[in-house]
Amino acid sequence: MRIDIVTCLPKLLYSPFNQSILHRAQKKGIVEVVVHDLRAYAINKHQQVDDYAYGVGAGMVLMPEPLDKCISGLKEEYDYDEIIYMTPDGETFNQKIANHFSLKNNLMIICGHYKGIDERIRAMHVTREISIGDYVLSGGELGAAVVADAVIRLLPGVLSDETSALTDSYQDGLLAPPVYTRPADYKGLKVPEVLLSGHEAKIEAWRLEKAMERTKQRRPDLYKKIFEDSSDDGK
Ligand code: ADE
Repeated sequence: MRIDIVTCLPKLLYSPFNQSILHRAQKKGIVEVVVHDLRAYAINKHQQVDDYAYGVGAGMVLMPEPLDKCISGLKEEYDYDEIIYMTPDGETFNQKIANHFSLKNNLMIICGHYKGIDERIRAMHVTREISIGDYVLSGGELGAAVVADAVIRLLPGVLSDETSALTDSYQDGLLAPPVYTRPADYKGLKVPEVLLSGHEAKIEAWRLEKAMERTKQRRPDLYKKIFEDSSDDGK
């Protein structure tokens, strides 16, 4: 998979992609993440990429020209499955959308900044608009890192058995059950007996019970959904 990220603040993205799982996935050649600095497409020597919003008192908007140049150049080279714009007015990101993106070859993620990007770029190039939650960030970069992380960890070969994505919260519509590691007794708080039993079927039943319990308690909305017919594949 290849993920191109278009941003006017590339440094914001260096750390998330140069640590741990995301770094390893790139080193293994499973994913190529390329961050494009919008300032390289600036309209003048002042490196201008934004301007005042028409008809609004305050707020800057990323101009169409640098974005269009950058995006069009990339589109000439790669066939994108999705061109994603990170925006608080997009559809809320979830595990189903992450699963859907993880099956693609080429993704582009566009990060807005300040008040966002010129609407015409959305009309011309964007195929999917994603929000990471009902709050406003100062730009799309952190959201882009969230989306890329959730997608990359699903790619075959990225996670080892020990960190398998199959047992994640949300993957089966349930929150994950509690987990424990050594010691078996910590300050008098004991690991549930069944987890030490080595009895696989009993452990599985316990984990399912706890996952159901936790989901019912913390996310009754998800719990209800499990019993409803769900044919939505995240598209
Ligand atoms: N940019 C600003 N706020 C955002 C949000 N909530 N999700 C995605 N991108 C954003």
